[in-house]
Amino acid sequence: MENKKQSFVTIEWRDQAVVMIDQRLLPHQEKYNIYREVPEVAEAIKTMVIRGAPAIGVAAGFGVALGAHNARGDAAAVVEQTKQACDLLAAARPTAVNLFWAIERMRARLAQVATAPVQQIKEALLAEAQTICDEDLGLCHRIGEQALDLIPQSATLLTHCNAGGLATAGHGTALGVVRSAVQAGKRIKVIADETRPFLQGARLTAWELARDGIDVTVIADVAAASLIAGGKIDLVVVGTDRVAANGDVANKIGTYSVALAARAHNVPFYVAAPWSTIDLNTATGAAIPIEDRPAEEVSHVLGQRIIPEGVPVLNPAFDITPAELVTALITDRGVVRAPYIEGIKALAG
Ligand code: MRU
Repeated sequence: MENKKQSFVTIEWRDQAVVMIDQRLLPHQEKYNIYREVPEVAEAIKTMVIRGAPAIGVAAGFGVALGAHNARGDAAAVVEQTKQACDLLAAARPTAVNLFWAIERMRARLAQVATAPVQQIKEALLAEAQTICDEDLGLCHRIGEQALDLIPQSATLLTHCNAGGLATAGHGTALGVVRSAVQAGKRIKVIADETRPFLQGARLTAWELARDGIDVTVIADVAAASLIAGGKIDLVVVGTDRVAANGDVANKIGTYSVALAARAHNVPFYVAAPWSTIDLNTATGAAIPIEDRPAEEVSHVLGQRIIPEGVPVLNPAFDITPAELVTALITDRGVVRAPYIEGIKALAG
């Protein structure tokens, strides 16, 4: 199969800095921000310049590498400053386990080289971050390949949020499934939930698929259940921020409603994720921390308040879809079906 490259770069290390496309400005403006300080990278994750679980992990990896790169003094001082960078980045967002997974991996590499000459420590950490980034791209392609047998030759696929090239080092997880299917010659129409309140579906999924010539139509979130009920959707594929050991799935708020509608109408509900998103240390979805985002994301649209002053707002950014609603998990290591505890354990090796 042709391994076509997506037409934009989500994140990279360039000229001794971390460079990211500013996802807050898409689709109107394609601007690449250059970050030379660790707190800027942490802030970029927090404010969703970069978002999506695997991309957050890649950003954290480069953020730690930047911490080492900027550190001054002897090896012990560089190790100490790099650990501080790890702590700062780990506090950026709570739900996506890839953030903690990447930081742990960087910490482990740091421990291996802690007594090496300073330059060697810095180079080792940058190499590790680059490896996390490169591997993520490869994992997304493998997820797409694993899914090929599940995707009909011609299908209308509903997705929620953005689990695309913008949410990963490239290709995407849910949208990687789409891209791989299209590259394999399948006729795929994507229906993208707009994904209130941050509009990742309307702004980001629509932008990256349209840009790569993939058929995409945006709907209001509230339209999804009736399209599913009306037989307009053949399958649902979403990404995830964390999968618990029992197969419960945390993903963008609204995913649970889509899963319920899919189950009610016998439409397959697939979750695509790299292995780095499976959290064997979290037993069930109930233990996954759900991020509360700023009220303004709900109370304001395009900078304009739409809710009366003084009325409180709730803005949980993620919800939990119980494993029983998931038809299959599509991972780079293989496709897992219920019973998930056993299936996940088997793939964990
Ligand atoms: O708040 P976000 O935009 O970071 O949420 C992203 C999602 O919910 C994605 O579906 C998930 O991270 C998987 S991305 C491959």
